[in-house]
Amino acid sequence: MRKINLILLGAPGAGKGTQAEIISEKFAIPSISTGAMIREAIAAGSELGLRVKSYIDKGELVPDAVVIDIIKERLAKPDCANGFILDGFPRTVPQAAALDEMGVEITDVISIEVADESIMERMGGRRVCKKCGATYHTKYNPSPKGELCACGEPLTIRSDDDPEVVKSRLVVYHEQTEPLKDFYQEKGLLKLVYGQEKLDDTTSLTLEALA
Ligand code: AP5
Ligand code: MG
Repeated sequence: MRKINLILLGAPGAGKGTQAEIISEKFAIPSISTGAMIREAIAAGSELGLRVKSYIDKGELVPDAVVIDIIKERLAKPDCANGFILDGFPRTVPQAAALDEMGVEITDVISIEVADESIMERMGGRRVCKKCGATYHTKYNPSPKGELCACGEPLTIRSDDDPEVVKSRLVVYHEQTEPLKDFYQEKGLLKLVYGQEKLDDTTSLTLEALA
């Protein structure tokens, strides 16, 4: 099997985390979400967490230097040697340039395309498990245990899923992250996957893009 060093692009709520989990299991490569790492730091009350909390609460991006350091450290770990999935990084052109400067080879870039109106509906129904990290949707991907995660933990709503914050995150996405599609198109790496109503259908298209 060829090596996969994948970047998943897409608006907030496009389904990056959902697809990353599935691809990670299928190819046995780690899925690296800067958003999840930042939320863990905030939950742990670390110095980093305290520094970045206000950005997340407002739906703004954390400063480039902070996330670049996080990613540099994470990609140096041995489990990334056989491939990895970057979910939510890079998110600005300077972050993408930093990956190039680090000498990180990217084999695939997939942008999951979902219209803003659908995003608002998806975010309203998202439920997450703080213990195992699983993501559900009340309508599109319900937990087999209702309000509990499959692991038994009560499900929660992410603090940045408040509709006003989601609106800000969408603006930030279009202004700062969407230009990365051109960046990777010019490198001949970009593939678009149109997010489908059914998770499995999006997964099939994503796997086709990786074939
Ligand atoms: P991050 O955690 O990365 O959030 P995001 O990019 O806004 O994306 P989400 O995690 O909200 O959505 P997703 O695409 O993973 O969708 P999901 O699979 O959950 O970042 C959070 C914050 O951290 C940022 O705002 C920023 O402040 C900071 N940050 C992170 N990285 C940074 C960086 N590099 N630079 C600077 N700041 C950074 O799916 C959403 C919902 O839809 C779920 O309920 C799911 O079940 C459902 N769903 C999924 N697929 C489908 C489908 N096909 N049909 C129907 N429903 C579906
Ligand atoms: Mg996510």
